[in-house]
Amino acid sequence: MSGFHTPVMVQESVRFLALRAGGTYVDATTGGGGHSLAMLKAEAGIRLFCFDQDEEALEEAGKILTGFDQAEFIRANFASMRTELALRQIKGIDGILFDLGVSSHQLDKAERGFSIDKQATLDMRMDQVAPRSAWHAVNELPESELAKIFREYGEELSAKRIARAISKAEKPIEATQDLVRIIETVVGSGSKESLKTKIRIFQALRIYVNDELEVLTRALTDAINLLNPGGRIVVLSYHSLEDRIVKQSFRKAEQDCLCPPAIINCVCDHYKQLKVLTRSPLEAGEEEVKLNPRARSAKLRAAEKTASPKLKYKRL
Ligand SMILES: C[S@@+](CC[C@H](N)C(=O)[O-])C[C@H]1O[C@@H](n2cnc3c(N)ncnc32)[C@H](O)[C@@H]1O
Repeated sequence: MSGFHTPVMVQESVRFLALRAGGTYVDATTGGGGHSLAMLKAEAGIRLFCFDQDEEALEEAGKILTGFDQAEFIRANFASMRTELALRQIKGIDGILFDLGVSSHQLDKAERGFSIDKQATLDMRMDQVAPRSAWHAVNELPESELAKIFREYGEELSAKRIARAISKAEKPIEATQDLVRIIETVVGSGSKESLKTKIRIFQALRIYVNDELEVLTRALTDAINLLNPGGRIVVLSYHSLEDRIVKQSFRKAEQDCLCPPAIINCVCDHYKQLKVLTRSPLEAGEEEVKLNPRARSAKLRAAEKTASPKLKYKRL
């Protein structure tokens, strides 16, 4: 694999996708193309739509997937997957993979501003032309909003104090290392705990900048609706906030009715759409974690689309 990104739990992902010749599949987060390549090698007779909002990622994937004419690249947020596929006359798909978060390339390339130990302008946009960046967040958001972001997306206990330090700091705060120094005025430097705080604050800003949780929730609903009966959805997540959303979305889609227990005759339009294939999430094996430390936090969840009901089931 190239130095761009080492894909995580590739064999498990491909196994759960249960690719079928003639099927239509989506790699929602193509990155460097590692998972896409494995899918195309496992079953050459598929059609594969490769999404990513990052132009550099699709350029890299294009190189790795040279010669695979069954792959079509779409530079777009996976939030617009339904529209993008409809534009290509695709109404149903047989499988979809989400490998969430950022690629090693995005973290390693200093200019992207994702890393706590690389000097760069505060950016953190996965989509390089998106209007909102980390610079805007730290320089323009009110203190209370920043504290909320750090608390909700970073689960950071010092959220309030760090937001206050940022709002009191001389503006503009231009670079990642300026932000690191401000965080250190609150939690100190050199200790394991202060390092964890810096990672949590950067994670929180990244989630905010890319609207990651909201977009994921919407995209999972769309993906489940798009799946043909028997189609599979596989999601790899890397932190608890994402995993919770995946777990809850699967759970909801697994139920046949969402009415409160007191309602005897079902009045909701909800019906069972998924059979969950992983009761608890799969984790990477020791060997893989040794070779690729990023795999340590990965959680894989998979589910299969059930047949669509002809009539909504009514409880008596
Ligand atoms: C962990 S990497 C994927 C790595 C890939 N599976 C591989 O084998 O190289 C995640 C990728 O998803 C992209 N991404 C994250 N959120 C996205 C979104 N909402 N829409 C489109 N792409 C997204 C990122 O730009 C990044 O390239």
